[in-house]
Amino acid sequence: MFLEKIFFENFRNIKDLGLKFSPSINIFFGENAQGKTNTLEGINIISTLGSFRTRKIKESIREGEKKALLKGEVNDGYGENTLSISFSRDEKKVLCDGKQPASAGSYLSVFPTVFFGPSDMEMARGDQSLRRKYLDRAAFFEDRSYIEKLRRYKRTLLQRNEALLKGVREIESWSEFLAAAGWEVAVKRMESLSKLRERISSIHCEISGGKEEVEIFCRPSWNMEEGPEGLKKALLESIEEDVKRGFTHHGPHRDKIKYKLGGREISEHGSQGQHRTLVLSMKLALLLWSKEKNGVFPAFLLDDPGSELDKKRLGFLGEFLDSYEGQVFIASVEENDIPSRGEREKKSYFVKGGEITAL
Ligand SMILES: Nc1ncnc2c1ncn2[C@@H]1O[C@H](COP(=O)(O)OP(=O)(O)O)[C@@H](O)[C@H]1O
Ligand SMILES: [Mg+2]
Repeated sequence: MFLEKIFFENFRNIKDLGLKFSPSINIFFGENAQGKTNTLEGINIISTLGSFRTRKIKESIREGEKKALLKGEVNDGYGENTLSISFSRDEKKVLCDGKQPASAGSYLSVFPTVFFGPSDMEMARGDQSLRRKYLDRAAFFEDRSYIEKLRRYKRTLLQRNEALLKGVREIESWSEFLAAAGWEVAVKRMESLSKLRERISSIHCEISGGKEEVEIFCRPSWNMEEGPEGLKKALLESIEEDVKRGFTHHGPHRDKIKYKLGGREISEHGSQGQHRTLVLSMKLALLLWSKEKNGVFPAFLLDDPGSELDKKRLGFLGEFLDSYEGQVFIASVEENDIPSRGEREKKSYFVKGGEITAL
């Protein structure tokens, strides 16, 4: 599976763009503020329907324009699938092969990606929502139906939050639905984490020379041993407080995820170098995890790796990419930031002022 072509219209500083890619390594290079990250962001939106930069995707419409279009043709070895997303200030339209996709999972399975960029360091620094997102990605790679479970949970959470304004009877029934939906999310997150943890640890050992043990664990906001009933109980017991504060205090959206290195929480005690090694290990583990679980190498999107990784870590990343069989997109100032044996085909693209030229 690889992204063969893209078409962008009025996306950030890109007016219109059509490009063809290599199934191997693609490098966007050029000076700062030219559109390298924008291009990766567009590819990432086609893949995930979300941006690593903003929650409000409409902000990415080119200044002065009303509507943006991002379209990608994905080749899976048998045929082509076209993914497209167009959006204006108040409308968003998502299509797969010209039709509304049957489910979110069916769209998101066409072109899975893993992104690694400077903003991911927040994961090590303690950003809980990024940490949960990572687990959600892992669970999705293991079980494609997870995305429907997560969406059901989020919808039900919104409804319970709305009910908090209305009255106790409604809150009680929404608590029940939320407990059932939340349980499914929590179980899947736990399962994925328990298996992924070892892979993260072993990559981390390779990069760091095996000095400290990585531990990642998830602390739910209720006692999971009591099953879905436990969550229901916690939700019912907190109705009064939830009404007072206007939001739901229990459930997987409140999971606390801990990253420990040598027994100490990395956000408090880790050095910047340790943060970088951990986040890199987690991203690489995710790529291999997807391959192991569903046979697909996700495309790997790397934003400005040279700004975050030193020579040693870039060397490790280069070796990884040499043997990685999935498609890769790299955005960086220098064309050859990451050392490589040069066995994989590389295609370079020069980026300037929102225009991209294939070399
Ligand atoms: N909505 C937008 N409309 C027009 N230009 C935008 C928009 N959002 C960002 N830009 C421009 O995109 C450029 C940054 O592009 P970016 O891809 O982040 O640069 P880099 O090449 O350094 O990765 C900036 O010049 C910024 O002004
Ligand atoms: Mg950039």
